[in-house]
Amino acid sequence: MAALTHIPVLLAECLTGLKIKPEGIYIDGTFGRGGHSRAILAQLGPQGRLIGLDRDLSAVAVGEELAAADARFSIVHTPFSRLKDVAAELGILGHVDGILLDIGVSSPQLDDGARGFSFDKDGPLDMRMDQSAEKSAATVIANYDEKQLAYIFKVYGEERFASKVARAIVKRRESAPFTTTRDLAAVIAAAIPGKPGPKHKATRCFQALRIEVNAELEELKQALDGALEVLAPGGRLCVISFHSLEDRIVKNFMRDQSTGPQVPSHIPLTAAQLDEMRAQSATLDVIGGAHKASEAELAHNVRARSATLRVAQRLAYRQDESAPASQVG
Ligand SMILES: C[S@@+](CC[C@H](N)C(=O)[O-])C[C@H]1O[C@@H](n2cnc3c(N)ncnc32)[C@H](O)[C@@H]1O
Repeated sequence: MAALTHIPVLLAECLTGLKIKPEGIYIDGTFGRGGHSRAILAQLGPQGRLIGLDRDLSAVAVGEELAAADARFSIVHTPFSRLKDVAAELGILGHVDGILLDIGVSSPQLDDGARGFSFDKDGPLDMRMDQSAEKSAATVIANYDEKQLAYIFKVYGEERFASKVARAIVKRRESAPFTTTRDLAAVIAAAIPGKPGPKHKATRCFQALRIEVNAELEELKQALDGALEVLAPGGRLCVISFHSLEDRIVKNFMRDQSTGPQVPSHIPLTAAQLDEMRAQSATLDVIGGAHKASEAELAHNVRARSATLRVAQRLAYRQDESAPASQVG
């Protein structure tokens, strides 16, 4: 049976990072089972407001129950790449005091074999976070050519034997289509040389497939860009990621937005000139470094092991940067 709960990771660190104002407006872009959302609501006063987003219909159903019980909360079924559009529709563009993105899959998604995210439990080759989306793992495995498959396994899974795996999949599907997670995992494992280790050999390719099916990296990039216009000056952006590809995107985005354009080292500029350039183009201040789960947290939630939280704060809008013109709805 699917676990109905999800233990929120780095919860205390997120609440500190968001620096919650009791009357503020917050967005939880990855509502899940609402662990972070409930903790945010507990710190908001009667005038505070929290909007939850999720593209998973079962997460949205839980959000609807919470919205019925708490008028300060509302839930929207949408990918978080639409963060800016949602904020514009709600009339809160440029007025949001904090955004949380806890990206990746939730425990209920992983633990429910029928969602097809895991090879631990046999299930259909699905992996769609949004059950209404068209592209599933089955469509990718059936339709991508060998080159495309090798590319996603190599780039999104960092799998050394990506080409071998892609070749094995294409060869096997000529005689019988793949329909289940265990069948695919077995073919992937057989294509990767070496003895089985503590980690299933198909782990990296399954991660790659999930990223491709859900366009996870593109989603993240769009949400980060949109967040700049959604946040009020002083508003906080907290992002938890679970693998290095995502963390690199978050880290580089925050660094680029806090330092302004990268100037090649051969261009002679004084420290004062560099400071001036930064003042004219930076949009974020990075707050602290990468936060990881403490030993105490890991003792009760092993899934926090790979989580990394990064926090940044929106700087005031510059004169040449149009502040979003909107009314708080
Ligand atoms: C790690 S869980 C979040 C758990 C949540 N913080 C909690 O405490 O219950 C990630 C959630 O984000 C959702 N999600 C992942 N990527 C998304 C995206 N691009 N747009 C909207 N929701 C997304 C997933 O469906 C999942 O419910």
